[in-house]
Amino acid sequence: MTGPIDRTLLPPSATVNADGRLSVGGCDLVELASGFGTPLIVYDEGALRARCREYAEQFGAENVFYASKAFLCVAMARLVESEGLGLDVATGGELYIALAAGFPPRRIVFHGNNKSEEELRRGLEVEVGRIVADSFDELDRIEALVASGSPAPGVLIRVTPGVEVGTHAHIQTGHEDSKFGFSARSGDALEAARRAAASPGMRFLGLHAHIGSQVFDLDSYEQTAQVVAELLGEIEAVTGSGVEEVNLGGGLGVAYTGDDRPPSVADYAAALTREFGEACARRGVESEPTLAVEPGRSIAGPAGLTLYRVGTIKDVAGVRTYVAVDGGMSDNPRPSVYGARYEAFLPRAASAERTRTVTVAGKHCEQGDVLIHDAALPADVSVGDVLCTPATGAYAYSMASNYNAQPRPAVVFVDGGEARVVVRRETVDDLLRLDQGD
Ligand code: LLP
Repeated sequence: MTGPIDRTLLPPSATVNADGRLSVGGCDLVELASGFGTPLIVYDEGALRARCREYAEQFGAENVFYASKAFLCVAMARLVESEGLGLDVATGGELYIALAAGFPPRRIVFHGNNKSEEELRRGLEVEVGRIVADSFDELDRIEALVASGSPAPGVLIRVTPGVEVGTHAHIQTGHEDSKFGFSARSGDALEAARRAAASPGMRFLGLHAHIGSQVFDLDSYEQTAQVVAELLGEIEAVTGSGVEEVNLGGGLGVAYTGDDRPPSVADYAAALTREFGEACARRGVESEPTLAVEPGRSIAGPAGLTLYRVGTIKDVAGVRTYVAVDGGMSDNPRPSVYGARYEAFLPRAASAERTRTVTVAGKHCEQGDVLIHDAALPADVSVGDVLCTPATGAYAYSMASNYNAQPRPAVVFVDGGEARVVVRRETVDDLLRLDQGD
């Protein structure tokens, strides 16, 4: 790999000026780095909106629930709201941020494999539109809360379809040995649905299945649609009535490197819709549930990029060259946690050949703090350069930590030549915010 950065890894608004410098959303990345400091997370607001619209066009905006775990802040929740999409929250904390943003509770779906009584109480109190029940214990908790006066919620049953997807083991969720959901194979999912349908403490809305994340093969979705359709047939037979909706989760993969070729949203939607429709017809399912999805990564990922500043270049003779930047596993743990691959380029020379092979390392006190093994960069990469890793909009900032007491980066949204800070950079004072002294 020696060519310039593959432009398909950059948001569609990316342009290179006559000097070879890259702008996104009309903002020069080198200037953003100088103006806001580094590390800096930059989102192309237009790209976020365009992705929301792609999904809305395929499924209907009200049937798309952005998975906020990929990236959430007040501005992001408001952007999703303004595009007419719903929101998936998986904890009381995500719910809190969504509500702080003024996100309408009825468009929220509340997930989690171990929602506490407190979290559930809050969800019921604000009347979130859907609660995805993940265990019999949770069904008990919901019923107890309703018995003590909470309004009865709309409930989806989380189904484990027994489908193994080809993705990192940590992000597979649809296989039998999963901590999520009720197994379809064992009969637990049917039992949970029967119970939800019969319970005066809930309105049984339908089924939910999420098989994993960074998924490229559409076959896994087709298998899931078949298992869910089969289960629907059984539910209709047992309860005598159908369901209103089926949510097939998120998971569509994105390109992190020039070698990645994820399916388009349109192909993904076509596969899901066709297979689910056909599978329901084969099983004689009578209800015609709405098909909903919960994309996270494929909305936030490609729209975001991270800017770092190169601080040290170290040639270890005969071994490798380390290019160390001013962030690392604290702002993007994905390479160290999942072995995730990224690419890098220099925004000052966005069309330059990248003929030098280096290892881009972070600044943390761990040898494993490597952002990119064998990254291709221009031969003249130097100390002081701004280095960019594209496609870092999902599960980077949302999984960021303060390891080594490193303050978390700022997040800016860029659009039409304007940049606005949507999450400010942490300061060293923030690091002491929770500390009680002696
Ligand atoms: N719905 C449910 C119930 C989920 O658990 C998830 C992701 C999604 C939707 C969104 O999936 P997406 O479209 O983003 O693939 N930290 C990992 C990813 C964990 C995904 C967790 N659940 C990573 O960095 O790869």
